[in-house]
Amino acid sequence: MAHNSIVKTDPEKAFLVGVSVKGSRPLLSTSDSLNELALLTRTAGIDIVGQATQQVHHIEPATFIGSGKVDEIRQKIEDCGAQIIIFDDELSPRHQRQLEERFGENVKLLDRSALILDIFAQHARTREGALQVELAQYEYRLPRLTRQWTHLARQAGGGSARGGIGGVGLRGPGETQLEVDRREIRRRITKLKEELERVRGHRTRHRQQRTRAGVPVVALVGYTNAGKSTLLNAITGADVYVADQLFATLDPTTRRMDLPSGREVLLSDTVGFIQKLPTTLIAAFRATLEEITEADLLIHVVDVNHPNVLQQIETVEDTLAEIDVPAIPRLLAWNKMDLWSGETLPTLSDSHTYLEQIRVSAAAKTGIADLLKAIEQGLAVTSYHSTLLIPHTQGDLLAYLYEHSQVENRVDREDGVLLTLQLPSTLYRRFREYQVEE
Ligand code: GTP
Repeated sequence: MAHNSIVKTDPEKAFLVGVSVKGSRPLLSTSDSLNELALLTRTAGIDIVGQATQQVHHIEPATFIGSGKVDEIRQKIEDCGAQIIIFDDELSPRHQRQLEERFGENVKLLDRSALILDIFAQHARTREGALQVELAQYEYRLPRLTRQWTHLARQAGGGSARGGIGGVGLRGPGETQLEVDRREIRRRITKLKEELERVRGHRTRHRQQRTRAGVPVVALVGYTNAGKSTLLNAITGADVYVADQLFATLDPTTRRMDLPSGREVLLSDTVGFIQKLPTTLIAAFRATLEEITEADLLIHVVDVNHPNVLQQIETVEDTLAEIDVPAIPRLLAWNKMDLWSGETLPTLSDSHTYLEQIRVSAAAKTGIADLLKAIEQGLAVTSYHSTLLIPHTQGDLLAYLYEHSQVENRVDREDGVLLTLQLPSTLYRRFREYQVEE
């Protein structure tokens, strides 16, 4: 009999697998990393019904964890009724294929990367965000295409991969379905790249306008769930989506705000980082992450209470280095101080230099005034050593520079005035078009 109630399907059940290689020294222990994987799994809306860890001397070329362990896990999966098995490490296409064969068709095999990509797909809100995730998903999938994947992609439209590869065209002579699918994915990848170029053009123009206006940009960076969006809300009163979920914010959100002195800045919230972020995702998000690269000041937000806070700080700094973020001055905001009961703050490694460390609670809105003061000072004290060539027609700029920067040397040339100076970070981008190699 037909009825109107909404039928709620039960969440899928997953079994998690963590592997440690003897002698390797990962940032997080296997069990901490597995806890993080559990959080990711729940964020993706999947229940966890069991887990296993395995220590190996080396990664097995065929089965990753060794065939004895595969048999053991297969038995456990049957016992607990899991439909999905999730590995905490990225599986190579070869491992993916081998393990799929061994675990059989009734269980879906995922790895941490696929899971993160899926969460990103669910959370993308802007067109650019959705396109970037879709591109990353296809690039991740292409070398891994097996019957299971094509089946999945067709069924689910591949998460964000809207339009997916369902409705694939007719097969060419002698082509297998797999080949057709590969061809179709390559075609989609090309199209996505073209579409992204168009969408990005718009944002780049927007950013150039901002740069010309000379408003400094302060970017919030941090590990996922550290509280960046909450902090942005606390500082600007903006209504930015906050959730106790990993990767709630995916697309950069920028808010205009006034510092206590009345000086205007743009505050930008960006995607959170996590250890073992899939490389295809970093590549696809490179353009979005440029928001960070071009900031005048970074605020690294950390959850002071997290047991792995120091490892999280390392991960964020490593990821920043990976996306080639230059030595932009940074502040460290120890967030969630309302839950903190310790006495001394965790000790940072010497390699990281922050202009200042500030204790805040974004939720309780404490420490915000100190943070604003630090932002103001941070923007004021940082300067760059630069050489500018100012054309003779722009005499007004010369006067401006003498007033607002520290001029160290001047050479009058035929094509203009060559100035060597210490340029405040806030003017650095504004004068970028005049910069010359020394
Ligand atoms: P991503 O989008 O994953 O990058 O997260 P985010 O860093 O933007 O974190 P978000 O602001 O979404 O906050 C994550 C969770 O931490 C939410 O449940 C917040 O309510 C909570 N939270 C943030 N700041 C504080 C704080 O100062 N104290 C407490 N107790 N909770 C906080």
